[in-house]
Amino acid sequence: MKHILITGSTDGIGKLAAIELAKKGHTLYLHGRNKEKLQQVIEEIKDATSNDNIDGFVADFSNLDKVKAMAQEVNEKASTLDVLINNAGVFNANQAITESGHDIRFVVNYFAPYMLTNSLIPLLKKSSEPRIINLSSAAQAPVVLEALKGEMKLSAQSAYAQSKLALTMWSVDLAKREQDMIVIPVNPGSLLNTKMVQEAYGQFWSSVDKGANILMELTENENLVAQSGVYFDNDQGRFAKAHEDAYDSNKTKTLIETTEDIING
Ligand SMILES: NC(=O)c1ccc[n+]([C@@H]2O[C@H](COP(=O)([O-])OP(=O)(O)OC[C@H]3O[C@@H](n4cnc5c(N)ncnc54)[C@H](OP(=O)(O)O)[C@@H]3O)[C@@H](O)[C@H]2O)c1
Repeated sequence: MKHILITGSTDGIGKLAAIELAKKGHTLYLHGRNKEKLQQVIEEIKDATSNDNIDGFVADFSNLDKVKAMAQEVNEKASTLDVLINNAGVFNANQAITESGHDIRFVVNYFAPYMLTNSLIPLLKKSSEPRIINLSSAAQAPVVLEALKGEMKLSAQSAYAQSKLALTMWSVDLAKREQDMIVIPVNPGSLLNTKMVQEAYGQFWSSVDKGANILMELTENENLVAQSGVYFDNDQGRFAKAHEDAYDSNKTKTLIETTEDIING
């Protein structure tokens, strides 16, 4: 049985994956931005699965100080962590620019998982088979560094697609740097029936089960070592090529350096 942290597990793909993984008997650490909603989901999953090994962490990922505090809390409370599923994400937002002056898509979808993951790597490394699953998307667009730094405004679609390519570039790089960990960036499937998709597009193509099922598979499959750093495209149902920038080491180096400047500045 594994110890699994799923961010953004109060709704959509993350919540359904949490229910299915709880049914299998894994120990779960759930995360949400709203304390009451998170508590309600924890109770709901405990009742539905008779699995009591479920704990929760609260943090609004649009504020990186909250991400840092959560990482510290996880490090203090969790003795083991085998799998980190960076699932929390945002597309539409009433307030597109965060207090730090950055687009919320970059902050929640990229800076937050980047920061959380780096803080949890020592804990993950205590596991015999540490694994990081990053929720990417078919929507991937070249990262404009001025936009990343908050010096240029983007549409929701552009910011979302750039944040997802940034996450994918970093995932490929992380897999190279951390050879003893499995890192998989995954597009869970396009237009799955979740709140994010209903708000953004008002329609859907597939049920949310498609996304939850691939997260289950990537969490439990014991034969993924050779696939670390390879993008899984669930629209095609197989490992595939991500956007070409994900394999451009110069662009990735600049992205990571800029990211470090932003989150440490
Ligand atoms: N659905 C799709 O077709 C699709 C396709 C490609 C990729 N994805 C990716 O899959 C992941 C899950 O998306 P979903 O479709 O399941 O969306 P969703 O139903 O809207 O769920 C998103 C989750 O992220 C949380 N979240 C949002 N903003 C947050 C913030 N500021 N701080 C902390 N948590 C926050 C939400 O919390 P609340 O419950 O409080 O709202 C929720 O738990 C995302 O990364 C998304 O980009 C989805």
